[in-house]
Amino acid sequence: MMVEHIRIMAGNDKTGQPEAVPGLDLKPGQSLALVGPTGSGKSELLSDIEQLANADTRSRRRVLINGKVQEEPVNGLVATLSQKTNFVMDASVREFILMHAESRGRDGNALCDPLLHTANTLCGEPIRGDMPLQVLSGGQSRALMIADIALLSDAPVVLIDEIENAGIDKFKAMQTLAGRQKIVISATHDPVLMLMNDARLVMRNGGMHLRIPSSPDEQECADLLRRMDQSLLNARDILRAGRTLEHTEQLQ
Ligand SMILES: Nc1ncnc2c1ncn2[C@@H]1O[C@H](COP(=O)(O)OP(=O)(O)O)[C@@H](O)[C@H]1O
Ligand SMILES: [Mg+2]
Repeated sequence: MMVEHIRIMAGNDKTGQPEAVPGLDLKPGQSLALVGPTGSGKSELLSDIEQLANADTRSRRRVLINGKVQEEPVNGLVATLSQKTNFVMDASVREFILMHAESRGRDGNALCDPLLHTANTLCGEPIRGDMPLQVLSGGQSRALMIADIALLSDAPVVLIDEIENAGIDKFKAMQTLAGRQKIVISATHDPVLMLMNDARLVMRNGGMHLRIPSSPDEQECADLLRRMDQSLLNARDILRAGRTLEHTEQLQ
């Protein structure tokens, strides 16, 4: 299905009050961060979008595709990366890619290497085709899933719930997904990820409270924060590998 835009029409917050943001539209290539404290309604909104809610969830929101309510579930429209990403399948990485490619009518043999390559740019611990899915770490699983969403699934809408603690390169992950004319909506507590989006939606009390577009000034802050964040990640990798920090340039 060709998605020209999705529209989220407001319902009510947890207290039954109408949401402050009456609605919003998203087009392919646009990204939106959902921000707000735990319990503010980020996952609920993601779930409304995933289900294409039609005033039939607690929030009474409606989600329209190209201006229309979808009466039937639409297969393959939404790819979701949840907080708990684990493969329960008894197969190797390569077998998984081949099976998934086949189910989507794609050439798995041709896709396997590029997909593994993309996954390996996202994750520090190498993923090999012959590894059983069940031995993959959380980071490896998520890296594989993101590469799968980017290269194999054609889902035009990607929903991501708190990707930041997954042991993957979160910037590359966002870029991998965003560069593909998808609509990417991600709930996050990570300031750098928030600022990578075209806009952010502040959630409060279960409701859409405020939409803030990203500004050029904020992008300058984002560059600085990203460098700080990279230093932290580098330090983490060095220390986790059992090495020591002797020079600050190791952090760059
Ligand atoms: N608009 C709403 N109306 C009713 N209940 C809601 C609404 N938004 C969130 N909730 C409920 O509030 C709780 C916390 O929301 P959740 O989406 O999990 O928050 P977050 O992901 O931001 O931590 C959940 O039980 C959820 O179902
Ligand atoms: Mg949540």
